[in-house]
Amino acid sequence: MKVPSDPIIVALDFSSLSCALKKAEQLDPNLCKVKVGKELFTKVGPDSVVSLRNLGFDVFLDLKFHDIPNTVARACEAAADLGCWMVNLHASGGRAMMETAANVMAKLSTAPLLTAVTVLTSLNDNLLAEIGVGDGALLQTTRLAKLANSCGLDGVVCSPHEITSIRNEVNDNFLIVTPGVRPLGAALDDQVRFATPSEAIKKGADYLVIGRPITEARDSHTALSEIHSTCISPI
Ligand code: C5P
Repeated sequence: MKVPSDPIIVALDFSSLSCALKKAEQLDPNLCKVKVGKELFTKVGPDSVVSLRNLGFDVFLDLKFHDIPNTVARACEAAADLGCWMVNLHASGGRAMMETAANVMAKLSTAPLLTAVTVLTSLNDNLLAEIGVGDGALLQTTRLAKLANSCGLDGVVCSPHEITSIRNEVNDNFLIVTPGVRPLGAALDDQVRFATPSEAIKKGADYLVIGRPITEARDSHTALSEIHSTCISPI
């Protein structure tokens, strides 16, 4: 088992820059990276990324691009211009979309890591069948991860339950990023398919996206430090 040294990405799911920055100031950029999602980016725009970078954080821009190849590649390039550490797209956009984006990233002197969302964890087998995917979530997730790997992407985003199946099919350098992580005893909120941080790391995750257990803790700095120590020495 490889144990990443800085596996935590804190999801800053806020609707204002001041709230996001106030929370970020309670965190240590040596212990975590941060994630800017659709809500914050749509409200605040590139300033959200720039301001968090100025505080010393690596920023994962989680906008899950899904469009024709040229449009997605240009959007990834724009994320690179902002100095993002990681950006993502939907693997279901297909080979041409992923390869075009990966090729554009490969030509940049400094490029973000490019990861692919496999199957949204909000989709179950019945909902997938309704959109013509009859193989079920696990098979489809693993298939899309293999495709993303063969297109030159750096990794995938998947649920903790799919890590083992994907890890068996891709090499160790291929990154696995997983949300749905809850420390033992933490509120589950709306997460249904979850794992503890050390379980996810033991299964082969490289990065854990964790929001509310850290951002809504009375002391976010301590919550982050405690989760970080369970990650770097998983029991
Ligand atoms: O607060 P919590 O730890 O549940 O936040 C998880 C973060 O990961 C949120 O930003 C959420 O949008 C994201 N996410 C998720 N489940 C997925 C994909 C992304 O919870 N399947």
